Amino acid sequence: MRDYPEFPEPEGWTSISAIQRGEHDGQRVKVRGWIYRTRSSGSIAFVVVRDTTGVIQCTVKKGRAPDEDLEGAKKALLESSVVVEGQVAEDKRAPGGHELQATGFEVLHYAEPFPITQDQSDEWLLDNRHLWLRSRDMNATMRIRATFFGAFREFWDGKGYTEVQSPSFVRDACEGGSTLFNVYTDDDSAPLPPGAEPEPGTPPSAQRFYAYLTQSWQLYAEAMMFSIEKIYTIAPSFRAEKSRTRRHVSEFWHAEVEAAWTHNEQMMALDEEMLCHLLDRVLENHEPELEQLGRDVAPLKAIEAPFERMRYQEVLDELNNMGFDLAWGDDFGYTEEKALTAQRTIPLYITHFPKEKGFYHRPDPAEPKSLVCHDLLAPEGYGEIIGGGERVWDPDELMARIEEEDLDPESLGWYLDLRKYGSVPHSGFGLGLDRALSWICGADHIKHVIPFPRTMRRTRP
Ligand code: 4AD
Ligand code: MG
Repeated sequence: MRDYPEFPEPEGWTSISAIQRGEHDGQRVKVRGWIYRTRSSGSIAFVVVRDTTGVIQCTVKKGRAPDEDLEGAKKALLESSVVVEGQVAEDKRAPGGHELQATGFEVLHYAEPFPITQDQSDEWLLDNRHLWLRSRDMNATMRIRATFFGAFREFWDGKGYTEVQSPSFVRDACEGGSTLFNVYTDDDSAPLPPGAEPEPGTPPSAQRFYAYLTQSWQLYAEAMMFSIEKIYTIAPSFRAEKSRTRRHVSEFWHAEVEAAWTHNEQMMALDEEMLCHLLDRVLENHEPELEQLGRDVAPLKAIEAPFERMRYQEVLDELNNMGFDLAWGDDFGYTEEKALTAQRTIPLYITHFPKEKGFYHRPDPAEPKSLVCHDLLAPEGYGEIIGGGERVWDPDELMARIEEEDLDPESLGWYLDLRKYGSVPHSGFGLGLDRALSWICGADHIKHVIPFPRTMRRTRP
């Protein structure tokens, strides 16, 4: 059951879901909303009205409502904004089981013909996202999303973690150079890109490099961690993704955690406890919304910790047994992760990835070619939703890794500094909120769970 009021009813108004729950049978009520469906014949109009909580059929009939109200109801097109007064009656034939027998029907604004009708393509709906947001599916998705974000904060606050913020404009790549977005400016006091020579005599231009957009808060988190020890954030991250898959967007919401005095195994135990908490909160509050989206909740309800754990090498073997041809060092893409998780019902941890995965991950002292890190893969074919692990905390080891990966120690000087003054073991992770939500909502594409999704080809509306 919901443990918070789903919609605070303003004085004098009734929310549609309260009517549909049977809380107002036989009573006179007043609702306000938008026309969701409408049909009329002669002396009667059946107008289905939606508000944020649901839909209800309003019957506007000659003799019960004033003639001009009936005329208005017959004339008003989809999405017109309306105020309806009347008496609630049970009616099994009406959507939701109730109807509102109108005694008054006021049209606040007569809508122009609404461009969205049935059966439009995904692309078309994205072009008209500013209007498609009114759909019941987007309404349900945005509600689930809000609970998901809130539950993340609730969990970490409860563990004594502090929310802190990192910048979006940065100069160092955390997750490799291939997905960096460059930001330019026409201010000639802005820095040049690393390695570029200033050209004497060139006028200030909009091509002056300013910064990259951040891929992750991690490098900054590691600095803040030395002060606050246990921290988290929720913020957008940016990736110029060349891979156009159903799980990549160029801007996503990243929920990240960093903790001092914490090893990889301890962080993994926290991750899975957190994920169970997020699932519980969504299931407690949003079964009707998940049903609206056509999501079967049984597999979500069955998820319990501890999750399955495999090492990278074991995963390689499993995939090769399925017919893949992978060698040590190969990365898993969408195809591999989909194959790996399609038949699984609980999330899967993969640990001990090869060193190439990232310069900041701590090599395993027992087997230095692999890392003390983890990815968490969602079941049902969804794949990676979390990437995390233990960080290299020894200064010499970090310097060696930076050189091995051919990164610029000068630019990363501030990050190297962090290891010079009382370095400690520490771990963290990043959860892709949109990706995790697409699994929870059962979406076949990540764009369905984001109000205004951004891809390499779309930044409007
Ligand atoms: O695995 P990633 O790249 O890990 C990091 O960024 C670490 N620095 C996080 C950390 O340890 N603080 O990204 C983490 C998660 C992925 O598992 C995925 O869920 C999501 O971010 N993600 C994306 N989601 C949507 N679109 C994209 N293009 C994404 N790239 C990563
Ligand atoms: Mg990753």
